Amino acid sequence: MGELKYRSLRGMPDIMPERAGRMRLVEDTARKIFKLYGYREISTPILEATEVFTTGIGEDTDIVEKEMYTFSDRGGKSVSLRPEGTAPMIRAFIENGFGNTPDIFRFFYSGPMFRGERPQKGRLRQFHQIGAEIIGSYDPYADAELILTLEKILRRLKVEGHQILINSLGCASDRKEYAKILAGHFNRHIGKLCEDCVRRASGNVLRVLDCKAAGCKEVSREAPEITGYLCGDCESSYRDIRDILAREGVPFVERTSLVRGLDYYTGVIFEVIHPALGAQDALAAGGRYDGLCSRMGGPSVGATGYAVGVERLIMAVPEEQCETGSPGIFIIPLEESFKPAAFRLVEKFREMAVSCDMDLTGRSVRAQMRKAGKEERDIVIFVDEALETDGRVSVKSMVSGEQYDTGVDDLVEKIRKDQ
Ligand code: HAM
Repeated sequence: MGELKYRSLRGMPDIMPERAGRMRLVEDTARKIFKLYGYREISTPILEATEVFTTGIGEDTDIVEKEMYTFSDRGGKSVSLRPEGTAPMIRAFIENGFGNTPDIFRFFYSGPMFRGERPQKGRLRQFHQIGAEIIGSYDPYADAELILTLEKILRRLKVEGHQILINSLGCASDRKEYAKILAGHFNRHIGKLCEDCVRRASGNVLRVLDCKAAGCKEVSREAPEITGYLCGDCESSYRDIRDILAREGVPFVERTSLVRGLDYYTGVIFEVIHPALGAQDALAAGGRYDGLCSRMGGPSVGATGYAVGVERLIMAVPEEQCETGSPGIFIIPLEESFKPAAFRLVEKFREMAVSCDMDLTGRSVRAQMRKAGKEERDIVIFVDEALETDGRVSVKSMVSGEQYDTGVDDLVEKIRKDQ
């Protein structure tokens, strides 16, 4: 093959069958948990008016400033590919009149998101999120419930070694107070900050706490902590959340330096990190965002949520949890003349919801066996004239190596029982 004529865009890889299978496993697992907890699915468009994000996420954030895929549509309107799902979810909530009656709404969503970040391991320009949001409640049990759903998803997927980090950013007035104190601290050490943080120190000062530059990290370590500036209400709901999690047996770590890259957060925030991920170690993140709905023109309601980065989560899912994607059963006609009977048998299995397939490339029986071995099939079924005459086939277990003759009906019964 010569040089490739077309390539996918940087940071937007194709999702080939193996990865698609892993992503599906994660999504199916999350869906089961959300169903159990009473969350209903919402799907918003991938493209939105740009203001949904500038208002929702905040003009001052890296996402809005540098990372959005924004362009004019044919009518000259500025539109953007969604970089996240929360602002669109709130837009849909308001637009569809859900905010008109005070109630609690539990939603989840999944799909691709787009951020023009510099690609690296675990950081893509098109990536997938599964998110969950509770709208209409200020209750700490809502935050705790969300963290519980996340922990359940991870547990079902047999993820181990992760840590749930939590912090509270306080309400808007706590943060205003804290930002003043923090700005004073950073301005006293301005010479050690990176260029971006010098600018942040007189604007979105909390972001300095999140900077990975050595000087900024050093100054941040000495910075006063937000938890020292929480008002009575924020402090008590933060304490309640920790108490509920402790009672429910969810381990977590308080990390007072934790901040978020989106501006809508108020109150508790959290992140799940895992050592398998490398530098981009957060596989899920979220928190409370009580002011967003009213800022976007809707009612003033409590809201909280999180999103899982699917590509990151699958890095933490143990290999044995993931299916190979190939069916367990492979059917081989021993001669070309047995192909119609073999094909019928494949169809018979499929009609009974037993997944199987056969090779259609015309390669030899020996080559087909090699394929079955490589693809780690469970069993191979050999078809010869006995299928037509007595309804019998020869079966080889690829796991034990055992080979035996059996009637097709008995075999079907056995496979269905094993499934
Ligand atoms: P976020 O922290 O920006 O929050 O993203 C959530 C998760 O998406 C991250 O923890 C990470 O796993 C994944 N992620 C983000 N950017 C990338 C990327 N470039 N490549 C691969 N994975 C990525 C939000 O998006 C909020 N909407 C979460 C939320 C929901 N807060 C409240 N409700």
